[in-house]
Amino acid sequence: MKFLPLLPSLALLASALSPYKAPNWDPHVHLSTCLSTPLPPFFLSRLAALLSPNATLLLPSSPVMQTTHLRWQAYAKPTYSLLVEVATEQDVVATLTRKVRFANTHSLPFLAVDGAHGQTTTLAAMRHGIAISFVRMKTAEVLPCGDLARLGPGLTNGELVPTGRCMCPGVTGIALGGGHGDLQGLWGRPGDQLVEARVVLADGTAVGVSEGENAELWWAIRGAGHNFGIVTAMTWRVYERVERWSKVLLVFSGEELEQAAGGLTVYYIVGTGPGGEVVVQVDFVFGGELAELEEFAAPFRVLGPVAEQSWEGKTYMEINRLGGSDETSELACGKGYYRHMFGSYYKRHNVTAMRRVHSILTDMTRKYPGAGNLSFFFVEGYAQQGVIKVPADSTAVPYRAYPLLSVPIFTYTDPSWSDDIIATTMEIKRVMTESGGPGEPPRGYVNYGFGNEESEELYGHEKWRLEKLRRLKRKYDPEGKFSFYAPIDGSVG
Ligand SMILES: Cc1cc2nc3c(=O)[nH]c(=O)nc-3n(C[C@H](O)[C@H](O)[C@H](O)COP(=O)(O)OP(=O)(O)OC[C@H]3O[C@@H](n4cnc5c(N)ncnc54)[C@H](O)[C@@H]3O)c2cc1C
Ligand SMILES: *[C@@H]1O[C@H](CO)[C@@H](O)[C@H](O)[C@H]1NC(C)=O
Ligand SMILES: *[C@@H]1O[C@H](CO)[C@@H](O)[C@H](O)[C@H]1NC(C)=O
Ligand SMILES: *[C@@H]1O[C@H](CO)[C@@H](O)[C@H](O)[C@H]1NC(C)=O
Repeated sequence: MKFLPLLPSLALLASALSPYKAPNWDPHVHLSTCLSTPLPPFFLSRLAALLSPNATLLLPSSPVMQTTHLRWQAYAKPTYSLLVEVATEQDVVATLTRKVRFANTHSLPFLAVDGAHGQTTTLAAMRHGIAISFVRMKTAEVLPCGDLARLGPGLTNGELVPTGRCMCPGVTGIALGGGHGDLQGLWGRPGDQLVEARVVLADGTAVGVSEGENAELWWAIRGAGHNFGIVTAMTWRVYERVERWSKVLLVFSGEELEQAAGGLTVYYIVGTGPGGEVVVQVDFVFGGELAELEEFAAPFRVLGPVAEQSWEGKTYMEINRLGGSDETSELACGKGYYRHMFGSYYKRHNVTAMRRVHSILTDMTRKYPGAGNLSFFFVEGYAQQGVIKVPADSTAVPYRAYPLLSVPIFTYTDPSWSDDIIATTMEIKRVMTESGGPGEPPRGYVNYGFGNEESEELYGHEKWRLEKLRRLKRKYDPEGKFSFYAPIDGSVG
């Protein structure tokens, strides 16, 4: 049987239906234009003198900035006057306190950077700031007890710690938002694996954070962590590796969408086939033998897939690579594209909504043939057993009981398409929000935020959650220095 490419293309639809207006900044600003606010030499030399020998200062004109430090998403990104590749916790403290002193006369923001995959448009509010990068802090050490490991904050997903499917997002960035991925059925969410962290607070002090130390901050950093400080070290739970994974991939033409989506509790993708038609891919991944997985795939096979393939005896990392999400993937790891995405949690598939999304994508494909080759609509339905074992109120992660998360990822290179593509993204969001039935509020994922969400959507609709987060934000970050990534509103000032 012929096998379609794993990640086929999808073109994009223009829609005037959404009231959303593109934010008022210039998405065409590139790093080199930031030289307009160079830092004074005295600041650089004093900071350099305080840093450890392995730390590095990079100016926007540095070639390293144009390669290593490009971001996954170029539509609305933070701009840097200086990037500090820190090597120790003390380097972070030095950068923050230097910065704080300097900023008394110049208002210069700062931002931690791990995998640079953060894509919410709120990041663009950081203009000409100081980036604190962890590319030099990629350490990992399993403790003698064997069930814990010390991790540096600079690791990316594929380097060691498998959290999600894509190899390049940062482990810290993922965990601070709770994280999700294939392993959560076994052990819970990536953020649930943290047992302690070192955090540099807005005033430049470094503190330990765990169940027994700064307990409220401990609650907050697992789900809303980007808002509270800079993590310089973490201790994670580690487990005996599951050695043999299997995978079944079934591709359907759009006609079987109702049946394929109806009972689905696994991961699937709506992409575009080689003929330009929007296809449905159902992708089953299982930490066990293929024969067992086939029992789950059987009800879908009878629908008559147009293509199929299966694998067995693979490692988890090999399964990820088969999914087309490794370092060579422009979708997962490519830098500098224009991209938009948002996440939407829900409990049950609504095939009416899925059909609506399918037809939006089909219209898009017809309108812009060949456009947006790296664009998809994913529904991520990872196993929930490990997730719901963790008490819902024990972390700042809001929607534990919601097993399905949909996310369109639209990638393009022509900036003149932005308005149309954003309008389409928002139209899909409206359909997905309504898919829960009348009156249901939107439920998003902080790490998949578009940037125009209300705080409730990302941090939870239960009143106590935002009250607690706002109170903690006032306590730990009263001036709102950590407010570029999905900021907790109403907490500052
Ligand atoms: C292709 C792709 C695949 C993805 N797959 C998954 C997935 O499988 N599972 C999942 O849960 N999410 C996934 N995500 C979403 C991911 O969780 C977010 O994009 C996350 O922000 C990535 O973190 P980063 O470190 O790469 O990004 P960055 O932009 O470097 O960081 C994101 C935010 O975290 C803050 N931050 C980074 N390091 C620190 C630190 N040490 N201390 C404090 N704050 C810090 C930054 O300041 C920034 O605000 C994916 C995203 C993309 C683009
Ligand atoms: C600097 O980095 C090198 C190579 O990673 C390492 O061996 C060395 O210990 C580091 N030095 C300090 C002072 O941290
Ligand atoms: C999409 O992919 C096709 C085939 O690889 C290529 O010919 C075309 O130029 C691509 N279009 C865009 C907009 O990237
Ligand atoms: C299903 O989704 C559609 C479109 O989003 C919505 O109008 C409808 O109310 C939903 N049905 C249910 C039962 O929730």
